[in-house]
Amino acid sequence: MKKITIAIDGFSSTGKSTIAKQLAQKLGYVYVDTGAMYRAVTLYALQHKYINNGEDNSEGLINHLDKIYVEFKFNHELGFAEMYLNGKNVEKEIRTLQVSNFVSKISAIPEVRKKLVQLQKEMGKNKGIVMDGRDIGTVVFPDAELKLFMTASPEHRAMRRYKELIDRREDVKYEEVLNNVQNRDYLDANREISPLKKAEDAIEFDNSDMGLEEQFERIYNFAIRVINEK
Ligand code: DC
Repeated sequence: MKKITIAIDGFSSTGKSTIAKQLAQKLGYVYVDTGAMYRAVTLYALQHKYINNGEDNSEGLINHLDKIYVEFKFNHELGFAEMYLNGKNVEKEIRTLQVSNFVSKISAIPEVRKKLVQLQKEMGKNKGIVMDGRDIGTVVFPDAELKLFMTASPEHRAMRRYKELIDRREDVKYEEVLNNVQNRDYLDANREISPLKKAEDAIEFDNSDMGLEEQFERIYNFAIRVINEK
C-alpha cells in the first residue's frame, strides 16, 4: 500500500495527538507530536533562564540553539515515542502548566521555528507519517495528501486539559487552564510567523460533542479513502 503524509493541525487540546497517535498505530505509520518539540525548547529556555516572568533573553536562547538536541525515542512498553532533550527523557516535564504558559512565546521566535521545521521535514521525508501541530499542513508539509484541522470550543478543550493535569496530580484550577487555552489560541493564531490557520485544502473537524471512537472512525475512513486513491 502506498504511504502518504497526514498533517493534523488545530487549536490546543483538541485531542489532535490522541487521534494522530491512534491513526499512526493503526496504519503502521510514524507519529510526530511537533508541540512536544516546541515544549522541549521551552523547557530548555526555562532551565537556562532565557525566559522567566520578567525580562526575556531570546538572544541568549537563539545563540544557544545549536546546543539543543531534541529527539523522539520509541517506548515499546507504552507503545509510543517520548521526547528527549539533550539525551534526557522530558516527557513529563514538558507537559506542565509552566511550560504551557511560555511555549507560545518560544514558538513565535523565527529561529526556533526554522530549526524545528527543518527537523520535521527531515522526519517526514519518506512519508508514512502522521504529524500534528499548528503549521503542518501550511508550512511543514504543504503537499500532504491528507490534512485535517481540528477545532472544539475553548471550554471543552480546557475541561479536557484540566482533567489530564489533575490526573497527573498537578495543582491547577479549571479557570487557570481555560485562561491558558484562550491565551494560547490568541497568541498561536496572531503571531507573525506561521500563525495557526486552516490550510485551504484541510478538512475541518469540530469535535466538541464527539466521542473519541466516532472521531477515530471518521478520520481513519478519510485516511483509507485517500490511501486507496493514490
Ligand atoms: O500541541 P501543543 O499544545 O503541545 O503545542 C504547544 C505549543 O507549541 C502551542 O501553544 C503552539 C506551539 N506549536 C507551534 O507553534 N507549532 C507547532 N507545529 C506545534 C506547536
